[in-house]
Amino acid sequence: MKRSIIVGNWKMYATSIADAHILTTSIRNHVADIKDVEIILAPPTIWLSEIAQILKQSRKTRLAAQNMFYEPDGAYTGEISPLMIKEVADYVILGHSERREYFSETDLEVNEKVVAAIKAGITPIICVGEKTKGSTIGQPLKELQEALAGISKTHHKDILVAYEPIWAIGTGKNADPAYVAKVVTKLREVVSVHTPILYGGSVNSSNIASYADRPEIDGVLVGGASVRAAEFVKICKIWSETKSLQPRAKEVK
Ligand code: PGA
Repeated sequence: MKRSIIVGNWKMYATSIADAHILTTSIRNHVADIKDVEIILAPPTIWLSEIAQILKQSRKTRLAAQNMFYEPDGAYTGEISPLMIKEVADYVILGHSERREYFSETDLEVNEKVVAAIKAGITPIICVGEKTKGSTIGQPLKELQEALAGISKTHHKDILVAYEPIWAIGTGKNADPAYVAKVVTKLREVVSVHTPILYGGSVNSSNIASYADRPEIDGVLVGGASVRAAEFVKICKIWSETKSLQPRAKEVK
């Protein structure tokens, strides 16, 4: 069966340990019975250890870091290594447009981080997306190709891709699901059938069903709506219910 994945990117929200605690506990308690969807929470790195403890008994919910450095160790003040992330999380978001824009991350750095994540046994969630609505899909395609430079096809099952058009992030202007399906199909040519490809950009409980309806889309990366527990749980439930109404996708070979 194809995987279904929902990632909650908390960004730099949940600014106190108490808030992070309440949000995690509430999500954990309410997603336990949701079927056939993997849920990944990406809180600020400083809360990862604490949240890992809260999720210890939960088989449903996994953790992701929102970023990491590519060197395993060394004199890099303020950075966090793949080996450190590996202690507390299974996934890491890489190349998010906010990192590219505010921290000048280049395609080359994203590639170095992807290589380092795979080497450390962490699944990278590679974010790609174009800046302007209506532009060609050249930019996400190029970003994905560059992020995967030098990575053998055998590792494509060890990565996730998130198509996140920048104009749709945090704007309330989510991309048309038919258009997303088209881009996903194009991105799929670069990766393998085993690579889940998600959509991200202003996803909420009102529009989630329209993405779940598309067999090409394997999940979503939720930003703003993921720090509201009830809304995030609703998104996960609607995704699961909508997918359950579709003919089961066959096991991919
Ligand atoms: P958004 O963010 O859901 O708030 O648009 C998505 C993202 O940045 O991953």
